[in-house]
Amino acid sequence: MKFFIDTANLKEIKEAASMGVLDGVTTNPSLVSKEGHKDFKGMLEEICKIVDGPISAEVVSTDLDGMLKEGYDLAKIHKNITIKVPLIKAGLQACKRFTSEGIKVNVTLCFSPNQALLAAKAGATFISPFVGRLDDISTNGMQLIEEIVVMYENYGYDTEVLVASVRHPMHVVEAAQIGAHVCTMPYKVIEQLIHHPLTDIGLQKFLDDWKKLKG
Ligand code: G3P
Repeated sequence: MKFFIDTANLKEIKEAASMGVLDGVTTNPSLVSKEGHKDFKGMLEEICKIVDGPISAEVVSTDLDGMLKEGYDLAKIHKNITIKVPLIKAGLQACKRFTSEGIKVNVTLCFSPNQALLAAKAGATFISPFVGRLDDISTNGMQLIEEIVVMYENYGYDTEVLVASVRHPMHVVEAAQIGAHVCTMPYKVIEQLIHHPLTDIGLQKFLDDWKKLKG
């Protein structure tokens, strides 16, 4: 399973990249706004220098012409830029156009199997189902991932299932068990994946025993 980081924080991206576990980056308007990046394109250029993999940049237009204009403009920045469009009618139309021209597309804000099916038919490179936001409304987010993975396998769609809105390590583990292609997660979750109390206790014991030997 590929690991993407879900952030627009350059320090976090650098840190995760240094661990050797990062395959790509996803951003969205909320994440960019949170970091206060006034120069969106400049920020994307910086990210492309740090990570050699798909970098999702989301359009904010909701009509086809606007999405196309924004998307073409963003795609010029770097070959790894993946245009992120919302799962609405214009988003599907834009997806079809971009993919037919070799531009990668991440269709976001997916909350149902039928939406995921439409994105695959429109040629999406990635479909982003939001597991955490479904969990928030007492609906099983990971069940949606299972349903989409089965559907895509049934018909051999190339679209990759990108598990988004990940809130904790178990979302990552379950995504891998189901066989999702990609999981995008906040930096905090990557850190949480590393830690185990028995590792810390075991390491401390090794170091203490080593000190005894040295006198
Ligand atoms: O990038 C989209 C998604 O991961 C957002 O997550 O935590 O705001 O639901 P969240």
